Amino acid sequence: MSEPRDAPYPELKKTHTMAHKGRPWTDYKPPPAAPVWAAIEGLGRYYILLAALELDVFDTLQRLGPSPVEKVADAIGASVDHVRALLDGVVALELLDQFADVYDLNDAAKRYLVSDGPATMADLIPVAPGPHENWTQLADTVRHGRPAVPIENDAAAFYVPLVEGTFTTMFRCATRADLKIRYSAMRDPKILDLGAGGAPWAIAMLNGCPDGTAVINDLPCVIDVAAAKTVEHGVADRCELRPGDFHSIDIEPGAYDIVVLGHICRTEGVDGAQHLIERAFTALKRGGRLVLADYFTDIERKFNPHAVIMGTTMMASTEKGFCFTHQQFSEWIRAAGFIDLRLVEPIGFQQSFVASTPR
Ligand SMILES: C[S@@+](CC[C@H](N)C(=O)[O-])C[C@H]1O[C@@H](n2cnc3c(N)ncnc32)[C@H](O)[C@@H]1O
Repeated sequence: MSEPRDAPYPELKKTHTMAHKGRPWTDYKPPPAAPVWAAIEGLGRYYILLAALELDVFDTLQRLGPSPVEKVADAIGASVDHVRALLDGVVALELLDQFADVYDLNDAAKRYLVSDGPATMADLIPVAPGPHENWTQLADTVRHGRPAVPIENDAAAFYVPLVEGTFTTMFRCATRADLKIRYSAMRDPKILDLGAGGAPWAIAMLNGCPDGTAVINDLPCVIDVAAAKTVEHGVADRCELRPGDFHSIDIEPGAYDIVVLGHICRTEGVDGAQHLIERAFTALKRGGRLVLADYFTDIERKFNPHAVIMGTTMMASTEKGFCFTHQQFSEWIRAAGFIDLRLVEPIGFQQSFVASTPR
């Protein structure tokens, strides 16, 4: 008699025998539920990490060194059982080590999670997914074609902490980009950084070019972050801050050696992204260069999950945001008149298109 329901793994389906299927016969196993559990656990994984950061777990372990849970709980001022459950969760995330009941930072935590780590993401993690409430309303956002509360309603409230959080990574990327772009070989370059955030690109380029100058743009309240960062990095005297909407601020035509569009196209929709590329072209001198950094999806939108999910994140929280493919950007960049287009990846998962205006 045949089993009316799905046969439980690992029992072979009675219908999947050589007598039924003939030769060549291949084994059949039901697909694992792991991708479903990965999605379910995604929420818990994120909030485990967020709680650990809020409770200063990583900085505390850096200060204490390898410690049993009682010592960590005492330092944090929380219940031993609750702290153990949290720490074990972080170990499951592979962001802490535990051996013989002693917890310690692993290499990933030392690099990305302690607040003074060389590539710290501690300030980025709370803001990176966008406003958390928007995720609970994602189905409605899809239904209505826009989020109920897009970040554009209060751009400064969202972008100030975001660009403070992304600065370390983007500054590392922009500094390393010199190995690929050799901006430091330019004499007295004039740089335009649109939607600059904390101005990681402009600052890295000015660091590499002692006689360079930069015009730095962002929205009026967000530009204060760039103002502070340029002072902190000792380049403020070579920067002009130009607050305003990057679609409409005055930009001198044919005046710049480099224009940076750093992670600003994906909130702007197709027309907005193309408009920014065209503005960059008009702003550049002959032989000037565009640097366009973003998260690009592949042509089939499935081989780079990081970029694909970034696109969903944009959809969840912005009015027009989606990620675009390498092909779309290359077509728009060429259509604007740029030549010598290439793609560089100065650090992992941070790609930029670089292209020139004709001489
Ligand atoms: C994801 S951040 C990128 C910051 C920086 N360029 C980087 O690569 O790290 C996007 C930036 O664009 C700015 N922005 C958004 N809309 C803007 C607009 N219409 N005009 C000027 N800046 C804008 C935001 O305030 C924010 O600083």
